[in-house]
Parts: sequence; structure tokens; C-alpha cells
Amino acid sequence: MFSDETAPLNKYVVLPKVELHRHLEGSLRLATMLDIARQHGVTVPVSLLNLSGLVQVQDQDPLTFSNFLDKFKTLRLFYKSPDVIHRVTAEAVEDAAKDNVRYLELRFTPVALSRAEGFPLHDVMDWVIASAREAAKKYKIKVGLIASVNRHESPELAEQVAWLAAGQMKNGLVGLDLAGNEAEFKSEPFYGLFKEARQAGLRITIHAGEWGPAQNVREAIENLGAERIGHGVRVMEDESVVSLARERGVAFEVCVTSNFQSGVVKTFESHPLPRMLENGLKVTVNTDDPSVSRITLAHEYQQVCERLNVPMDALKRSVLLAAESAFLGEPAKQELSASLKTELKR
Ligand code: HPA
Ligand code: ZN
Repeated sequence: MFSDETAPLNKYVVLPKVELHRHLEGSLRLATMLDIARQHGVTVPVSLLNLSGLVQVQDQDPLTFSNFLDKFKTLRLFYKSPDVIHRVTAEAVEDAAKDNVRYLELRFTPVALSRAEGFPLHDVMDWVIASAREAAKKYKIKVGLIASVNRHESPELAEQVAWLAAGQMKNGLVGLDLAGNEAEFKSEPFYGLFKEARQAGLRITIHAGEWGPAQNVREAIENLGAERIGHGVRVMEDESVVSLARERGVAFEVCVTSNFQSGVVKTFESHPLPRMLENGLKVTVNTDDPSVSRITLAHEYQQVCERLNVPMDALKRSVLLAAESAFLGEPAKQELSASLKTELKR
């Protein structure tokens, strides 16, 4: 039996789910961070409460993108050894599996992971890929990896990441993502490298229309070749971009709690997800950074259902849509969709 507290959430835990937008660097368990801090002498406050304030959004925090992104600056102090990177990757996969995520696209930022100790980019990519593969097998979950580069960091480093990513496609690396500070940094310096990545066969998703205007969603689709948009909720500010996204069949990786915490929406209840659905956009539900936001994917489904009043049927359709929008090859995608369809009918 579940207690009254857990029973409502359990309905969403048991639902088989697909996650298309989750950052490894936003998925570190607090207890693991504490372990790492103790073992490696990371100079952060070593009480759970203090550490939480530095790496997770708190109720009293300002609801701004700069506060949100600041957590990732502290998180960079933790990538102390290959073992740490192995452990946090395996735990991120395990946590998704325990939340009944059947297919996880986990994105990671090689530049972030390599920075603290000066690890070579190709090494950190090897470590994440090997750990994710091993954990996927162990926890019986399908995992695809996406390499992320940040707008606010060097395009030259991003180019190196894109090259290395293209070389890792045979090992389960499926896509390339542009993340980071959309409010203050343009995507134009990245056009060339995204074109090359596309030509190499990498699938493209772009953070856009989160902290920047609808025009950024247009730019992501037209100039960066985005098949999917991270967040993209501000698309609703421009009908012509809504039409473009609909015509091109672009899927939106919507992350409601993240949007509330980083100030994209003023109140949780005013989140545009229901309006995006009404406008015929492809909407999927995602966590973004489960540890930074202190959530799970089940929690996000609950919030969307109970606070944004999206019916369960529509949520189930969004699980299937996420499967259809996965950066998988056709046979694997068909297999995933078919097994989810069967399960969701029960
Ligand atoms: N936006 C941009 N960059 C990010 C985010 C986000 O929501 N989460 C982690 N890096
Ligand atoms: Zn994100």
C-alpha cells in the first residue's frame, strides 16, 4: 500500500515514459555530491542543506535564468575523476529507469565535464558513453546520448565537440544540442558547425524560445536545422512561427518546472503548454534538470495533469509522440512505439 502522499504520484510513476530532454549535469544526486565533496575535497559547504542551496533551486531563490544557470557553475567543481563521471552517469540512468522511463535521451556537456580537471574532451565523451551503455543494460532501459554545447562558450570548442560527437555515432551518440544563455548570446556563430554536424548524420535539437523570443525558434529551425526544440514555449508569441513549427513537424521538449524556476512563466498555472497542444504543436513532457529542479519525470506528468489540467489521454499521446520524435533509427523507433502503445492501452 502507498501512503496518501505517494498514492497520487504513483499513478504517474507506473506510467511508462519517454524523456527527450534531460541534462546529465543537472541530474547529480545530492548524496553523491556530498560523497564527492568529502572524498575529493571540493571546497563547498559539506552539509546537505548548504550544498543543496548551491546546486539546487530553493523555494526562496529568485526565479531567474541567471540563478538557474549559476547552479551549473558550482556543479562543475564536482567532475573530479573518471570514476566520478562514471558514477554520475550510471546514477542518472538508474534514476530514470526507476521512474519508469523506457527510453531516455540523456544530454551531456563535454566542455563542462572536462573543465575542472582539464580532462581531454574525447576522454570525457568516452567515459560518459561507456557508463551510459553499461547502465542501460543493467537497468533495462534504452538510452540515446546527445552532446550539448553552450551558446555562452567558445564556438571553437563546440566545433571540437561536434567533430568528436560525429565519430561517436556508432556508439550510441545520436545528436547535438545548443544550450546555455539564450538571453545574451546569439546562435549565429554556431551555424556552420551545426550544418556540418547535420551532414555527418547527427540529429539536432536546439534550446530556443525559452529565455529568448519566438524568432529564436524560427532561427533554430531554419538556420540550425533543428528537428526538435528544447523548451520553445515562447513560440506562442508569434503565430507565424507556430505555423512554421507545425508545418515542419517540429517537436517541443517542454519542461514546465524548469520554466517556472527560471522565470520563463510568471506563475506555474500560466504555462503555455495547454495552448501549445490546442494549436496542434507536438508537445512532449520532460524534466530538463531533475536534481537542480528537485523533481522526477513522474512529478512533471503529475504537475501537467493536475495543475495545467491536461487530461491523462493527452499525456499518454505525448508519451507516444516523444517516442516518435526520438533520435532513433526507424526499426528501433517502431519497436519502442509499438511496445509503449501496447502498455498504454492496458
Ligand atoms: N536552458 C539552457 N541551458 C541549460 C538549461 C536550460 O534550460 N538547463 C541546463 N542548461
Ligand atoms: Zn535544457
